[in-house]
Amino acid sequence: MSAAENPATQISESAVSEALSAALAAIAAAPDAAGLKAIRNAHVGEASPLAALNAALKDVPNDQKAAAGKLVGQARAQANQAYAARETEMVAAEQTAQLAAESVDVTAAASRTRIGARHPLMLLQESVCDAFVGMGWEIAEGPELESEWYNFDALNFDEDHPARAMQDTFFVEPPEAHLVLRTHTSPVQVRTMLTRKPPIYIIAPGRVYRTDELDATHTPVFTQFEGLAVDKGLTMAHLRGTLEHAARLMFGEGAKIRLRPNYFPFTEPSAELDVWHPTFTGGARWIEWGGCGMVNANVLRSAGIDPEVYSGFAFGMGVERTLMFRNGVHDMHDMVEGDVRFSQQFGMVV
Ligand code: PHE
Repeated sequence: MSAAENPATQISESAVSEALSAALAAIAAAPDAAGLKAIRNAHVGEASPLAALNAALKDVPNDQKAAAGKLVGQARAQANQAYAARETEMVAAEQTAQLAAESVDVTAAASRTRIGARHPLMLLQESVCDAFVGMGWEIAEGPELESEWYNFDALNFDEDHPARAMQDTFFVEPPEAHLVLRTHTSPVQVRTMLTRKPPIYIIAPGRVYRTDELDATHTPVFTQFEGLAVDKGLTMAHLRGTLEHAARLMFGEGAKIRLRPNYFPFTEPSAELDVWHPTFTGGARWIEWGGCGMVNANVLRSAGIDPEVYSGFAFGMGVERTLMFRNGVHDMHDMVEGDVRFSQQFGMVV
């Protein structure tokens, strides 16, 4: 088919300018580099009307060839230039956007993640454990939601003994489940004796619960550490020696202890344990540290240990009280409220 017979490829000023404006419009309308590439062949490349007009040049009579060639050539050059300019523009815009997205503000204040640290009570609990582990004792644990049997019955508390009510207990619903929030760590004594054979030397730290209001010296949730030793031939002298050693480790070499008669259903004899230290805040004085005694024969029996063969001693101390007198903390609120400024005084890095 010759150009003369095909009006679409007839080289005329209007055909050339129509093809050129279509190409320029398509180039201008391309939204991005990919869109531009997609219209390339149809408007600038081999499939474009401008290329077809160029191909039609061969059919143009010789005397008009120069003028027609110039017309088509200029139009194609303009389209190519417009395409190249738009392409450069788009690549630059995309690079700018990418740089902006990846930019780093080197002047911005550093954001530091606070990694946190353990609470002073936890650290003290650990150092108590370390002191006993250093004497060859082992760490034992029990649940905070405890059955009444472990918390009271197995510890020789009578069904209606006032001691049961004495330990302001949180009873847990339903009543027939006989569950309590443990009021002391002493149930761990029973759990340990039921699962291990003597000789037993364990230290059992953990949280305990009593229905006290939070004030300067009380908190409904506090921490105790329980000690239990069961072996052949243990006496009150072993209890005393152990506690004196522990007091010196916890409070310093100048610490002294004294035992005052007391009553606990699970120890016989029982004693209140006081500690004295020259540098206690408030001056050198005796402070109540915990309870202790020789394990009651009934408790040994209920755990299946023959009291004719074995004897034992036990003690229970408050970790909060230890921290109060050891480190001069005056208010229980400071220990439970979680203000990091309190912890920072103990060297906690936050
Ligand atoms: N469990 C007792 C209390 O919480 C302390 C204690 C422990 C007393 C072990 C004697 C022996 O008060």
